[in-house]
Amino acid sequence: MNNQQKNEAERRAFLTDYPAYGQTVGLDELRRRDFTRLDEQGHTYLDYTGGGLYAISLVEKHARLLEQSILGNPHSQNPASLASTHLVDQARADVLRYFNADPEEYLVIFTANASGALKLLAESYPFDDNGHLLLVADNHNSVHGIREFAHRKNACVTYVPLDPKSLRIDEIGPYFDGCQGSTNTLFAFPAQSNFSGVQHPLDWIERAHGRGFDVLLDAAAFVPTNRLDLQQVHPDYVPVSFYKMFGYPTGVGAMLARKEALAKLQRPWFAGGTVQIVSTKADLYIMADEHEAFEEGTVNYLNLPAISTGLQLLQETGIDVIHERVMALTAYLLTQLQRLSHSNGQTMVELYGPTDAKQRGGTIAFNLLDPTGVYFPFQQVEAEANQVNISIRAGCFCNPGAGEYSLTHVAEDVRRCVEESTTGDLFDFDAYRECLGDKATGAVRASLGLVSNFKDVSRFLDFLAGFRDRAADGRYAERGC
Ligand SMILES: Cc1ncc(COP(=O)(O)O)c(C=O)c1O
Repeated sequence: MNNQQKNEAERRAFLTDYPAYGQTVGLDELRRRDFTRLDEQGHTYLDYTGGGLYAISLVEKHARLLEQSILGNPHSQNPASLASTHLVDQARADVLRYFNADPEEYLVIFTANASGALKLLAESYPFDDNGHLLLVADNHNSVHGIREFAHRKNACVTYVPLDPKSLRIDEIGPYFDGCQGSTNTLFAFPAQSNFSGVQHPLDWIERAHGRGFDVLLDAAAFVPTNRLDLQQVHPDYVPVSFYKMFGYPTGVGAMLARKEALAKLQRPWFAGGTVQIVSTKADLYIMADEHEAFEEGTVNYLNLPAISTGLQLLQETGIDVIHERVMALTAYLLTQLQRLSHSNGQTMVELYGPTDAKQRGGTIAFNLLDPTGVYFPFQQVEAEANQVNISIRAGCFCNPGAGEYSLTHVAEDVRRCVEESTTGDLFDFDAYRECLGDKATGAVRASLGLVSNFKDVSRFLDFLAGFRDRAADGRYAERGC
């Protein structure tokens, strides 16, 4: 059997094992029409958790709108300004509608990205001596960073550890008791891990509410391939980045916030657009209401109309169809990764997190092992993938917690090694890695999304099979968590 016949046989076996994939062929048409460049350039894109890819029709529709419109700064009342205000209001309403959020309950604050939304919350949340920030270890750094605001206000900060094998949390309940007697308590977790793809239970939201916590649900990695229905669950603060959902434009994110929870936040300053009145003589100011108090300066009014178009694309394509396809491919990829082995029987892949497709998304982290069980540096895997036009991600993906648990780092070792590798302000990462010994400091991540197909997964598996029976030669220095 030649390579082409082998791939065709594998494709048929895949379609038999995952019949639901056959109902997602509309996505093949979308790929042909709107993502022609992928196949034209022979590019296998597997970094959707890093950033979604844009449909060319999105860019064209946006360009047409700009061609035909006269759009001014929405802070004025002239026709150009009012035209922008109309489009921005429309985008705001479309975001609420897309997430099925009741406008009586939720509002949308536009930001530069999910991190911008998280910073708004971090600096405004009323942490104090009695405050408690409860974080699961499996968070993005832009969520972990909130703890610095909490520390500064002497709030209690506690972490929920992960099971090192499943990268899940068995029972959340006891952690709500972490800092007894606290008020102003905030619980932060991702709906989907950007490291392992684990989907943490959304019923934690109501459980946390029942224990008096406000809930930050980081939905950035979840919403590109999953339905988030804000009438089914009611998190207080929900950051998202739109480029992760439909690739275009970058530079626009949002925080969906429950109005009641938003009222609790205290802005640390005011800026253009966030105030009703400021007096220099009387040294006073009165904040604007609702989203206006949080949108500092001029919103990204030229790009915001493209959010409406992007959401429409997802709606027309169907998020459930996207989900179905991504999960069929994820299940197949997980199975095949676990079958890869060297001639001597040594398994080639050390997977991090769940080994099956239950309660997870299409993000998979792993390291490659050589026939003696030594890690291939993730940078080497990435560099070799680059050479064959496969885009993956390598490192720690800004999620040090999932990294530390999966790679079994120990707090004392991390502290000691950081100390030993730091001279003054200079941190020597190579020395740090050396100090950690044979532990990996990061991983390879493949993530699937909007127009992933069987060929992408198959090409990636063929690429990984190329490491069979090769020895890791340690040519690449690692950088990671
Ligand atoms: C789960 C999660 N949260 C937050 C972020 C931060 O998003 P951004 O870099 O767009 O601010 C990311 C980005 O990868 C993410 O995956």
